[in-house]
Formats: sequence, C-alpha cells, structure tokens
Amino acid sequence: MESVKAVRLAINIDHVATVRNARGTEYPDPLHLAVLALNAGADGIVAHLREDRRHIRERDVRLLRATAPYFGLEFALDPAIIALALEVRPNLAMFVPERREELTTESGLDVVANFDAVTRAVATMQEAGIPASLFVDPVEQQLTAAAETGAQFVELHTGAYADATTERDIASELDRLRFGARRAAGLGLRVNAGHGLRPDNVGAITDIKEIEELSIGHCIVARALSLGMEGAVREMRAAMTR
Ligand code: PXP
Repeated sequence: MESVKAVRLAINIDHVATVRNARGTEYPDPLHLAVLALNAGADGIVAHLREDRRHIRERDVRLLRATAPYFGLEFALDPAIIALALEVRPNLAMFVPERREELTTESGLDVVANFDAVTRAVATMQEAGIPASLFVDPVEQQLTAAAETGAQFVELHTGAYADATTERDIASELDRLRFGARRAAGLGLRVNAGHGLRPDNVGAITDIKEIEELSIGHCIVARALSLGMEGAVREMRAAMTR
C-alpha cells in the first residue's frame, strides 16, 4: 500500500486572545482552547507575540509553552522578544516581518534586505539549540538567502494562494508554492507553510510533498464559533487528508 504523508497541523491560537482582549476579560482563555485543540488531534500550538501585544501576551506564551507538547513562537526581529524566546525555548522560533498598522502578517520576511540581522537572529536561536524558521514568499532570491542564514526551516507564505479568486490565479499561486517547496528542499531547508488556509483550500497544499507542517489560525478560531474547537480541528484535519 502506498504510504500517505502525514502533514502536521499546528494551531495558531492568537485570535482567541483577540476576543479576550476585546473586552479586557480573562476569557476566552487561549490556554484552554489550546488544550481542546490538542485533545482533538492538533500536533502543536503556535502563537505570535507581537511588539504591540495586540493579542498574545508574555503570560500566554509561558503557559502555552509549559502545556503544549510542541510550541512554535512567531516573532519579529525584536531584541526583547528574542530574549524572551531564549528564556521560554519554543520548539520552533518562527521569524516573521511585522508592521504595526497591518491586520495580519502581510508578506514574507525580506531575508535579502535584512540578511545580516536575520542571520544573527537565526544564529542566536541555534546556539541555544532552538531551531529557526523564516516565513518567506516562494521566491528564488528569498529562499536562497534563507538557506544562507543557516535556518533549518522556511514557512512558505500561502496568503496569495488563499486570496486568489480565479481558477487561473489559484493555479498560478499553487505553482509558485510547488516551486518554492521543491527549491527550498533542494537548498537543504525543511518546509512548512501557512496563512489563510481553510478547509476548502488546504488539500492542495498538503498534497505538496515537501511540506511537513501547516500553521493555521484565523479560520480555525472562526469555525470554532460554530463547531467548537474540537469540531474545527477535526474538520481541518479531514480536509487535509481528503
Ligand atoms: N503563519 C504565519 C507566519 C502567520 O503570521 C500566521 C498568522 O498569524 C499564520 C501562519 C496563520 O495564518 P491564519 O491565521 O490566516 O491561518
């Protein structure tokens, strides 16, 4: 029988904190929802500690790290957050670009333009034994630069694919991602992906053979309003293994 590749599902829990912070309450609790996601079969939890702390806070990071068997921390090249990452030791340090006025992470990290700073940050993590991942668009120059920083992983930005509406654009964005995954693996990088993934668009991404793990947040939290967190995780898992 042909073996089926199991793509790991990491749940980004940020928007549970967004709802909590909207009213300054203690609920909903990202830790509680993270546990429900793990119980429903998620492989791990991801959180993005932003410079403006608009959703996840330091306390959430510490609690999630202490609870999840696999915890990825997303952050920008911010010295205070790099110091926190060294202290909490996530399973994966995920470097992302950040602009205060953006609603969500809009583009991949410009590794070419920030090569020295990214290389230093990657080295800082790796000297501490924490693997590093760079969130990048599937673009040759960015992938080559990512490999040169010494990072072990890239996370391919699937946002343009998720936002595409015509069949032609969807096909062309998928081609870019297939190319990116192949190229990254050829450069010796391990490949994750994420952003904007939903049950209706995730299957084509899990079919890309180099991709090991998906990071999915907004849609899971949104679907959890109707289905509960367990239902939302199971729905996504089923769509990943269609
Ligand atoms: N990967 C990265 C690097 C992100 O910044 C985000 C959004 O925080 C995601 C994945 C998850 O994207 P979404 O919330 O659209 O599923």
